[in-house]
Amino acid sequence: MQSEKRKVKNFAVFVSGFGSNLQAIIEAVKKKQIKANLALVVSDKKDALALTRAKKANIKNIFIDPKSFKTKDDYEAAIIDELNKEKIDFIVLAGFMRILGKRLLNAYENKILNVHPALLPNFKGKTAIKDAFNVREKVTGVTIHFVTKEIDSGPIILQEDVNIGPEDTLKSLEAKIHKLEHKLYPKAIQLFIASRDLSCRCT
Ligand code: GRF
Repeated sequence: MQSEKRKVKNFAVFVSGFGSNLQAIIEAVKKKQIKANLALVVSDKKDALALTRAKKANIKNIFIDPKSFKTKDDYEAAIIDELNKEKIDFIVLAGFMRILGKRLLNAYENKILNVHPALLPNFKGKTAIKDAFNVREKVTGVTIHFVTKEIDSGPIILQEDVNIGPEDTLKSLEAKIHKLEHKLYPKAIQLFIASRDLSCRCT
């Protein structure tokens, strides 16, 4: 089998909800700030607004229902089938509220990125913004990292601070964090593309 060398890598974005990071990534691909092809959006939620965003941008999008599979492994095998159809080289998690299992982690080792709304290793978990706010941290931030089997612990690609001022409310802090995510994630994705000689998965 001859391996096909593509100049431009294909990637998929995994989502579960609002999709503001997906939107920022879509814009960055359009502006060629991310030099790769966003070939597929995968959602584990049927009514995710992110799916509507993908549709509007004419990006192939699929909902794969985790409830229709007996195990996480079966679910991820079905996802991988879809990724293979689109010859996906790497994966970007953008608000995908599901812990990845061995099958996906092995198939895309060092090729899955995630955005976390805090300065890892501080404030791991799902309520990171609130947790930093509640303990009156003066500085929190955004981290883009590789996904490994330990949750919110993979090697960091980019990180940037956000100050928490005395005037900040949880809402204003959330807005600042999201704004920074939308700037930092496309930057990190392009950094990843440029710095890695991704082995092409296509044959
Ligand atoms: C972001 O805050 C991200 O850091 C976290 O989930 C949120 C997703 O937001 N992992 P959106 O769906 O991209 O708007």
